[in-house]
Amino acid sequence: MDKLVSLCKRRGFVFQSSEIYGGLGSVWDYGPLGVELKKNIKDRWWRAMVHARDDIEGLDAAILMHPRVWEASGHVAGFTDPLVDCKTCKARFRADKLEDARCPQKPSKKPGEHSACELTEPRMFNLMFKTFMGPVEESASVIYLRPETAQGIYVNYQNVLNSSRQRVPFGIAQIGKAFRNEITPGNFIFRTREFEQMEMQFFVKPGSDEEWFERWREWRMAWHHSIGLEPAKLRWHIHGPGELAHYAKAAYDIEYEFPFGWNEIEGIHNRSDFDLGRHQEYSGKKLEYFDQATNERFLPYIVETSAGADRVTLTTLVDAYREEEVEGETRVVLGFHPSIAPIKAAVLPLVKKDGMPELADRLFHDLKRQFPCFYDDSGAIGRRYRRMDEAGTPFCCTIDGQSVTDGTVTVRERDAMTQVRVHQDQLIAFIRERVG
Ligand code: GAP
Repeated sequence: MDKLVSLCKRRGFVFQSSEIYGGLGSVWDYGPLGVELKKNIKDRWWRAMVHARDDIEGLDAAILMHPRVWEASGHVAGFTDPLVDCKTCKARFRADKLEDARCPQKPSKKPGEHSACELTEPRMFNLMFKTFMGPVEESASVIYLRPETAQGIYVNYQNVLNSSRQRVPFGIAQIGKAFRNEITPGNFIFRTREFEQMEMQFFVKPGSDEEWFERWREWRMAWHHSIGLEPAKLRWHIHGPGELAHYAKAAYDIEYEFPFGWNEIEGIHNRSDFDLGRHQEYSGKKLEYFDQATNERFLPYIVETSAGADRVTLTTLVDAYREEEVEGETRVVLGFHPSIAPIKAAVLPLVKKDGMPELADRLFHDLKRQFPCFYDDSGAIGRRYRRMDEAGTPFCCTIDGQSVTDGTVTVRERDAMTQVRVHQDQLIAFIRERVG
């Protein structure tokens, strides 16, 4: 992880937030390569969940919502973690995760094991960030930054139904920011206080929920494979009765084997009619669905798929990172699936003379209109290849003496390091076919 975090900073994937002020705990900024990588992941998700299907609509609900939403959802009463403070070092820990924590003063021990530790009794701590709406800071104007995007979908379910041609079963998908005042965030962008979720809520007839749940489990695992994640590093974790969230009838996590252990990257939940039932009760508005085909009225059940965009981004980085020995030197490669690679191709004139820069510049601008590209004319060609390997660029197009005479360029593929000559007129099609 240390190597990856340092590469992410050096190459412009991820920076610590407000770094020049000493940083802000567990908040991160995406640099030029990181923003492209994360955007490609979100685009792949949107394409699979919305554009490729005719039973799912997209939504972009506001982050700020009516405070009653969070009472109905159960977050005001129950979105809490047990917190303990150490009176000696002032550090805070999750009472239920002390086993995994380290005493800041004596890292070989767990909190409470060092003679100087003085832990308080656990108290419940709500993870929602509070703020005030309007100029007056009083309890009547308290609102929350949403801790999940799902609620924006539930409160809009009838709006989407009434404004689209959908009938149950159908889904609503959304990508957006969520905020949690996590007590023990960490592991880089794995658990942060500000993050993005890619959530889809699928509304189904009660009784068909278990079947849909199984379908969504299969489709979601297939999606993670489709963005290039190593199947052997993905597994299912089923929530036992003690683990199930208050809303869930059944829940499975997709877990990935990170360097810090197996951890959740996405949850698939059968939420029953809990959410619509609660919003119906708290808003006083009927949220039942009338099925014209059968003349039945029912409150739909919901199958939810909920992935973290930042967590999936971290997963792709961890999964792609490798070090290899090549001709007695170590090369670091981010072997991203070409469809999510931040830069698709680099254009490299072999030398800065003999017409090569002019041809390279023209080809670069042609390619750049099609997909993100990078131009590099400094240093030995081997070093330039290594720089692109580290950025995860799948193709390097080298312009050499032959290019100027016959219009062909050398295309070097990142993983196998094989080289083929491609005519400049075929270059866009050649790369497009391979990056999706
Ligand atoms: N609507 C259901 C829901 O929010 P969750 O299991 O709490 O369920 C779903 O979160 C996903 O959101 C997780 O699998 C994870 O990918 C992401 N996520 C949750 N908390 C996060 C955090 N503090 N930092 C980064 N990602 C987080």
